[in-house]
Amino acid sequence: MEADAAGIAEAARILVEGGLVALPTETVYGLACDATDPRAVASLYTAKGRPHFNPLIAHVPDVAGARRVGRLTPAAELLAARFWPGPLTLVVPAIEEATCALARAGLASVAIRVPTHKVAQAVLRAAGRPVAAPSANRSGHVSPTRASHVLADLDGRIDLVLDGGASTVGVESTILDCTGEVPVMLRPGGLPREAIEEALGAPLAAPVADAADAEAVPLAPGMLASHYAPALPVRLRVAEVRPGEALLSFAGARPPGSETARAVRDLSPTGDLVEAAANLFDYLRALDASGAGAIAIVPLPRRGLGEAIADRLRRAAAPR
Ligand code: TXA
Ligand code: MG
Repeated sequence: MEADAAGIAEAARILVEGGLVALPTETVYGLACDATDPRAVASLYTAKGRPHFNPLIAHVPDVAGARRVGRLTPAAELLAARFWPGPLTLVVPAIEEATCALARAGLASVAIRVPTHKVAQAVLRAAGRPVAAPSANRSGHVSPTRASHVLADLDGRIDLVLDGGASTVGVESTILDCTGEVPVMLRPGGLPREAIEEALGAPLAAPVADAADAEAVPLAPGMLASHYAPALPVRLRVAEVRPGEALLSFAGARPPGSETARAVRDLSPTGDLVEAAANLFDYLRALDASGAGAIAIVPLPRRGLGEAIADRLRRAAAPR
């Protein structure tokens, strides 16, 4: 449905009644439900086919809304003032009655995000309650950056998709754990580390190496190794394209064998990492559907959004 005034009102109505709505945000499309309603959250886990221990992000329209959902620590307040609305999620101690335990997977902390996207903003204000929204894909599939991606994965399993065009950031939000004294990066994402470190005036701790190996409840279970998974095998940092492979390139790179690639996409011919992030999931999907035997990916720089892109590509290549 079009994301006009009628679409936004319909989305809010469905949310309040406990239904599931796919919404555009600037990072990726989210599959939204009422974060205070455990039945709605349960149906969302079912629609996604997501393991139940995975906690969800509570989306609110502004900092005041965030303060009703969690206790913002001094570092969280500073980062919220600087970067919200935007592609940053802050994990803080939960105000337990403000979201249902199922949405938090039983944790005493809550992940909060204030999206920039004007459709997401309008729906959140109209719904008037925190909205839980994981990426709007089946668990283990690539995150959607267009309404058509959502339909390809979830049509028939959800009540509505609001079409707000392509997500401009293209990778999920950066997640920071702000429950302790020093913020820790749990997931690199759409807000680059450098911007956060500059705001904090200190370096951030490294992201958890790989939560899939952890014995305990993972800090950010979205970090499970094969979370971002195309159907085809993926080879990273290739120096040549093998027969039958599709090529995902960057900055015009054409390694030997490119001439015979089954399909080629260049994340950013001009070498712009912001453009590359915005194209990432779209191009992975296109190459996945190209009839190739595997996807070969050239090396990308690690600066700025390159860290988040490298993280998603490493997961796409993880054995499964
Ligand atoms: O950009 C985004 O963040 C998108 C859009 C829709 O907002 N949402 C998104 O949600 O990526 P999801 O569910 O795919 O990823 C949320 C991540 C998961 O890795 C989850 O484990 C982590 O946030 N998370 C949620 N609550 C947490 C908590 N209390 N402590 C640590 N990690 C948490
Ligand atoms: Mg996800």
